[in-house]
Amino acid sequence: MTSSYISLGYLGAAMLFIFGLSQLSKVRTARRGNTMAAVAMLAAIVLTLIDLGSVDYRYIIAGLIAGSAIGAIAAMRVQMTQMPEMVALFNGVGGAASALVGLSFFFANVHKLADNPSVSAMLGGEHFAVTTVLSLLVGAVTLTGSVVAFLKLSGRMTGDPILLPLRHLLNIVLLGGTLGIGVWITTGVFTPASAIALILVVFFAALTLGVTAVIPIGGADMPVVISLLNSYSGVAAAMTGFVLSNNLLIIAGSLVGASGLILTNIMCKAMNRSLANVMLGGFGGDSQLGEKDTGGYTTVKESSAEEVALVLEDASSCIFVPGYGLAVAQAQHATRELADLLQKRGCKVSYAIHPVAGRMPGHMNVLLAEADVPYDQLFEMDVINGDFKSTDVSIVLGANDVVNPAALNDKSSPMYGMPILNVHESRMVFVVKRSLSPGFAGIRNELFELDNTNMVFGDAKAVLTEIISELKAA
Ligand code: TAP
Repeated sequence: MTSSYISLGYLGAAMLFIFGLSQLSKVRTARRGNTMAAVAMLAAIVLTLIDLGSVDYRYIIAGLIAGSAIGAIAAMRVQMTQMPEMVALFNGVGGAASALVGLSFFFANVHKLADNPSVSAMLGGEHFAVTTVLSLLVGAVTLTGSVVAFLKLSGRMTGDPILLPLRHLLNIVLLGGTLGIGVWITTGVFTPASAIALILVVFFAALTLGVTAVIPIGGADMPVVISLLNSYSGVAAAMTGFVLSNNLLIIAGSLVGASGLILTNIMCKAMNRSLANVMLGGFGGDSQLGEKDTGGYTTVKESSAEEVALVLEDASSCIFVPGYGLAVAQAQHATRELADLLQKRGCKVSYAIHPVAGRMPGHMNVLLAEADVPYDQLFEMDVINGDFKSTDVSIVLGANDVVNPAALNDKSSPMYGMPILNVHESRMVFVVKRSLSPGFAGIRNELFELDNTNMVFGDAKAVLTEIISELKAA
């Protein structure tokens, strides 16, 4: 096949990637988008193999079968709540691939230094030298950073921030050192032995930097880190695309790099925190989540499931507000059952979705989709916030920070400025949670003491099941 046909094929695959990506933005079309991107990836592999011509297909086919089998088994076994861990591993593998291509390209050419000591000339020019070093550096940081993120999220390592003494200085030295040596390698003249020694220093320092940059970050902030590492894996892949002179890899890597960065930005904005604040670490460890701090509440009112059912019998509108606790309790099916019951009684039901409710992007959408909640009942924060005023009952299910009015009116609160769901504006609010302990941000919630709020203490699934049986008995 001539190279112009190959380029045309690459262009088609790139368009499929872009179209697939755009389909991912809606739950309804996300599966189709995923299939499109997978087809584009297969096409890219086949086209590259044709382009390369004389390769040993036995290894390629063996790798393709082994990789596809691992991917298929993992996809079938992994629970929805384990998705961030899986994405972390994928990012790590992507980073490792880029770092290995960078390293092997370097090693395959290093003998040329015996004739001409310029590394830049050895790698085929300045831009090849720069991208080789960057592919190796960013890939190595992505690899170890992602492995630490995976270990933290899967509970194989403490989710608490690990704060090494002088950690900021250490990270600055590692980053500055790797970049400095990288520039030195790409511009200097070396013997093969010294070039190998220096590139290995860059590689191992970058591996160390991945670890030291991610261990101070608390487990609950890991989704932001994973999204950032996802972006890094894209940048590393794009660099590798330059190394291999492969346009499709440059396009695909740039798409991943840009979308990862956009998602990181969306998450930081929705938490009203800067990326620097997240990356400097020390916030949101696992133990913070389990804290049983009563927050000095004095005027909290409590309701039983029976009382909630009584109020719901007369309600004409109800908004469910799911949060992290709903996922912990696995109460999505019970929520759907209660919603169906209410609808049968003529009550208008909606679900309010905060962009960072839960612990990963889209956590609540995925959870509710699992229980077949109709998409048209799910509303994003900006769309539904105006409706609370005219709503009879809001039921907050295991959500805390995302409904804390302190974000609107307490300038001294660490959450001040974070956009929230205005549940406090509804006529009646029921907050279902096990205790008065705080959410991820570790701060008290003034919603619990408002006149129109009643706490319903208990596990979300157990409470919902009780409300359902009370309503059925009515
Ligand atoms: P949180 O504020 O963390 O509150 C969750 C609440 O669920 C807790 O207060 C807990 O109270 C309750 N809970 C736990 N297990 C429960 C169970 N079995 N039954 C009933 N309730 C239960 O959750 P949120 O409102 O969803 O807010 C998310 C937080 O995570 C935000 O601060 C956000 O910034 C942060 N965050 C989110 C993301 C993404 S992308 N989603 C990324 C990073 C950080 P009890 O212990 O009293 O039951």
